Amino acid sequence: MPDDLLAHARAAKGFMPEDEGDFLHRLARERLPHGPALEVGSYCGKSAIYLGAAAREVGGTVFTVDHHRGSEENQAGWEHHDASLVDAESGRMDTLPTFRRTIERAGLEDEVVAVLGRSTTVSRHWRTPLSLLFIDGGHAEVHARADYDGFARWLEPGGLLVIHDVFEHPADGGQAPYRVWLRAVADGFEPRETVGSMRALTAT
Ligand SMILES: C[S@@+](CC[C@H](N)C(=O)[O-])C[C@H]1O[C@@H](n2cnc3c(N)ncnc32)[C@H](O)[C@@H]1O
Repeated sequence: MPDDLLAHARAAKGFMPEDEGDFLHRLARERLPHGPALEVGSYCGKSAIYLGAAAREVGGTVFTVDHHRGSEENQAGWEHHDASLVDAESGRMDTLPTFRRTIERAGLEDEVVAVLGRSTTVSRHWRTPLSLLFIDGGHAEVHARADYDGFARWLEPGGLLVIHDVFEHPADGGQAPYRVWLRAVADGFEPRETVGSMRALTAT
């Protein structure tokens, strides 16, 4: 990870430990020469910097989908709520301005393309083969499953499916991403490597 962009990643709001970010960056460097990458769950742009850094180094484009209204756990009263991300007029979560500033400050506007909307709406219309898919959107069962169903089919053979927050034991975290991982294995994806809670699988 280039030093200048690592500093931006560290400064960005988000939930990605540095070892997992480095892992994502390494995988994206490998895959981006083969086609665009797609992230589900942009939030404030932290993981997009790791992906965008790879695009700056090896060429390529990273699309990142989010409705920017936050997941359940980002809403007021929940564990991961950040009151500074609430829009003063509407009273709703709005991470888009912070995301945009993060990517602008990192100088990655040419590499990282924001797609604003519900992931199910975007996936319904998505038609582009992907070199890498990073699933880190809604962590409720219905959302995690829909993101897998909607986008994993667009991975080209040899493409990488990367799933965040995979916890095998309920005591460590929610189970929906783990169930998506199990489903991917059952569908023929080959487990490749795990760093922290981030698991990568290869499309066959
Ligand atoms: C865990 S955060 C993403 C963190 C980000 N990848 C990072 O590491 O910096 C999850 C994001 O998914 C978004 N999200 C949740 N459900 C969604 C859906 N159905 N469609 C689009 N975005 C969704 C939320 O708005 C939130 O910003």
